[in-house]
Amino acid sequence: MRKGIYPGSFDPVTLGHLDIIRRASELVDELVIAVLRNNAKKSLFSVEERIGFLKQVTADIPRVKVISFGGLLVDCAVEYGTRTIIRGLRAVTDFEYELQLAQTNKRLRPDIDTVFLTTNVEYAYLSSSVVREIAGYGGDISHFVPECIIEDVYKKAKRGEEV
Ligand code: COA
Repeated sequence: MRKGIYPGSFDPVTLGHLDIIRRASELVDELVIAVLRNNAKKSLFSVEERIGFLKQVTADIPRVKVISFGGLLVDCAVEYGTRTIIRGLRAVTDFEYELQLAQTNKRLRPDIDTVFLTTNVEYAYLSSSVVREIAGYGGDISHFVPECIIEDVYKKAKRGEEV
């Protein structure tokens, strides 16, 4: 069985992430979506909320599992029996950071590879912080996040407490 792992902070999941998830799920038999705990970045949504959003928005995608992890990504990949890390590339500005991540992970675990999917141009500008900022000011986020989580994103973003 070919498994892949798609890691990230998903604070919150966006339509850009969902596009990568849908396409990645076609490439593997099981896709593990791994939400980073203990991120150095401040987050607006708790890990449980981020997992809840991901489960809602992927409910119609078969063979997807949502988990959280706190240590090294490569250790998480091994724990879930995958040697394929999937990452999205939005623009050339992502490349340097992603290359460093992929090469570090390769050094840590030579048997693990990173596969990049190019983000749909429609979402190339999108990031979770853009969503948090627009939602915090009550702007329209319907083009940025899946419809089923819009209200929950507004509720928290308008209060603006970070965790
Ligand atoms: N659509 C929309 N947004 C996207 C996107 C897409 N397709 N792809 C990335 N992004 C955005 C995210 O929303 C996020 O935006 P934000 O900064 O505004 O919140 C940004 O790109 C990058 O986030 P993300 O993909 O979640 O990566 P990250 O840098 O937060 O985390 C990990 C990357 C989890 C893979 C990495 O930190 C990790 O592996 N950590 C574990 C520790 C480890 O193993 N370290 C050793 C390797 S150095």
